[in-house]
Amino acid sequence: MKKLLLSLMVLFGMQTYAQTSTAPNIIPAPQSMEVKPGSFVLTAKSAIGFSVTASKAGGLFNEFLQTNYGFKLPYAKVVSSVNFIEDATLPAEGYELTVTSKSITLKGNGAGLYYGIQTLQQLVPLTKGTSLSIPNVVIKDAPRFAYRGLMLDCGRHFFPASYVKKYIDVMAQYKLNRLHWHLTEDQGWRIEIKKYPRLQEVASKRDETVIGHAGRSKEYDGKPYGGYYTQEEIKDIVKYAEARYITIIPEIEMPGHAQAALAAYPYLGCTGGPYKVGTTFGVMNEVYCAGNDSVFAFQEGVLDEVLALFPSKYIHIGGDECPKDRWKTCPKCQARIKALGLKDEHELQSYFIGRVEKYLNSKGRNIIGWDEILEGGLAPNATVMSWRGEAGGIAAAKQKHDVIMTPNTYLYLDYLQGIPATEPMGIGGYLPLKTTYGYEPYSPNLTAEEHKYIIGVQGNVWTEYIQTPEKADYMTYPRGLALAEITWSPAGKKNYESFLNRLPDELARMDRQGVAFRIPEPEGLENSVTSTVQTTATLKPSVTGAKIYYTLDGSEPTTSSAVYTAPVTIALGAIDNKVLKCIVVTPAGRKSAVYSATYLRKDYKAAENVNPSKKGVNFEFTNSRVRRAADLGKTKADSTGVMAGFDIRSFSKKDIYGITYTGWFNAETDGLYEFRTNSDDGSLLYIGDELLVANDGEHAPQEKTGLAPLKKGFHKIKVQYFNAGGGQTLSVQAGIKGKQSINLRSVLYTAQ
Ligand code: ACM
Ligand code: ZN
Repeated sequence: MKKLLLSLMVLFGMQTYAQTSTAPNIIPAPQSMEVKPGSFVLTAKSAIGFSVTASKAGGLFNEFLQTNYGFKLPYAKVVSSVNFIEDATLPAEGYELTVTSKSITLKGNGAGLYYGIQTLQQLVPLTKGTSLSIPNVVIKDAPRFAYRGLMLDCGRHFFPASYVKKYIDVMAQYKLNRLHWHLTEDQGWRIEIKKYPRLQEVASKRDETVIGHAGRSKEYDGKPYGGYYTQEEIKDIVKYAEARYITIIPEIEMPGHAQAALAAYPYLGCTGGPYKVGTTFGVMNEVYCAGNDSVFAFQEGVLDEVLALFPSKYIHIGGDECPKDRWKTCPKCQARIKALGLKDEHELQSYFIGRVEKYLNSKGRNIIGWDEILEGGLAPNATVMSWRGEAGGIAAAKQKHDVIMTPNTYLYLDYLQGIPATEPMGIGGYLPLKTTYGYEPYSPNLTAEEHKYIIGVQGNVWTEYIQTPEKADYMTYPRGLALAEITWSPAGKKNYESFLNRLPDELARMDRQGVAFRIPEPEGLENSVTSTVQTTATLKPSVTGAKIYYTLDGSEPTTSSAVYTAPVTIALGAIDNKVLKCIVVTPAGRKSAVYSATYLRKDYKAAENVNPSKKGVNFEFTNSRVRRAADLGKTKADSTGVMAGFDIRSFSKKDIYGITYTGWFNAETDGLYEFRTNSDDGSLLYIGDELLVANDGEHAPQEKTGLAPLKKGFHKIKVQYFNAGGGQTLSVQAGIKGKQSINLRSVLYTAQ
């Protein structure tokens, strides 16, 4: 009976959806939405009414209409066609929006009124017009988490005040309400502190910046770089944010990430310097001395001015990545450890954080720290920001401390959104939109009672490799919209397919606003494995109104290439593969990177009926000289054994040798896998009995790839490699084509 009722309800729901011309695409998805037949038609004649306490709301909506549609509504008395009403009986930050054919009524509690307007704006059709049809709906909404944050690192790179405001505008539009403003770093101090003028004169500037990735480069650009926010600018930004219901939480880092401050005031370090403002990125050894009381006087002097600027209840004091090398050899730090009977330098760090916490608590504020603040014992009232995965957050919640989840595994928005080939240079990592979207903050490792300590979630935009506002937009969105949905929408309302369907309209809005988000791959651009002689590619632009230009001949698409207008037929020969390459160009004229999909005529290889559990591969090693990997196995092995994976480092003292490795490759899903070898000298890679990557012969490092459609499960893999003298290299990588690939150095299973 219940089941029947449920299916009737689903059917009914679908019908009401089908009757509306515009399916509302709201991001973040509201708590509940009922779509009804019909719509309200908004024209310049529809008057706005508002309750006394909701007077700002009308102005806000009119500003939106004027900017995007070129008209405004006249004001009228409270009951009108469009009504905004403050209603303190609704949940915190909640609102109710009712659109009927006759009127629009929005009730909201505080910020809720503002958020209701954001939702209403998403209901207005994208297309410009003087008669705007808004679907009839009843929406009841309130946030899942009170803390919905984004962190912008203005230390590594300085972003102008105008951009910080733009960043706030976009956040507010998606109901995010905390801007964690990272203001001090090794590479630059960005907040004016009048008591310490050398922070402006010295710490805000660096001589130059590393070119390329700090982990791989020793080249510098030779160009001085700097910038800081004056206290006047900060006051203005804080006010601007407040008007949009965003609290700014400043981060003043300590005891690590402090090299810029040390360069300005060398007495703050253990050695006394000299120090220079960082010019490359990473974790620096030079940190504040924890044994010197004048360091604490400095922190208090800085914080006094910070507190006067930021009304936020929380002040973030960092606490991450503080190497203890200097403290270990510093007489003052060691004297402090001894005097206080501390166990080690971790406890010294806890002392540091605890002492600053006490000062801030005495001023009525609370601290947030990165999860390293757990290491020598948590400061009594600290909130923990869990970034090294969720472990720190879980541990803190178990200790009954508040937690903000910001795990790098989902929410480090500086990590790449696609494979390196299609992404601008970045810090590394791999966090496609889908991964970020999939984050659920309530860890199953916590009880329902402990979940209450998870007060919110945040995405972090670290800017080592984000030099410009455009790139900050690119890295933040669309993953920032996934964050909005994680933090706002009820867990049960989250659905990636639905999110992807709602995304194109929202991205079109952002495009119109000049937000330089990453343009996602077109929907439907997927590798395809088929046994038929032709296949079709059905694509949909990832931004409403965008155009897709494509090629099928391997050439790079441009705006002169074929425009996608209808499904493309792809003819495949006997055993053939074709690559469709495309670019997406938004209505505002921004171009995506080149994205591609491979269409392969071949049968899927079934997985073997095995379930190996031991990690590693078997190997047969020979000292004999061969000239081709194909000749291996003809001579007797000199030794055999098991090792972690395809890794020649333990053999590389030999000059002439050959190895045959055999093991199992675990295909985690059905898919078109690409295997890649880079070898010097030759190598062969087999999947099952099929030679997939022929990279044989004597040669310098050379890369070759092969495609294999594999069913989920274990597949036999064999790699043969030889070195005939001189340089030697073997790297074997695998992954779904176009997605992240992994090095097969340690993730294989031994053949049993
Ligand atoms: C961090 O990413 N070091 C907090
Ligand atoms: Zn010291």
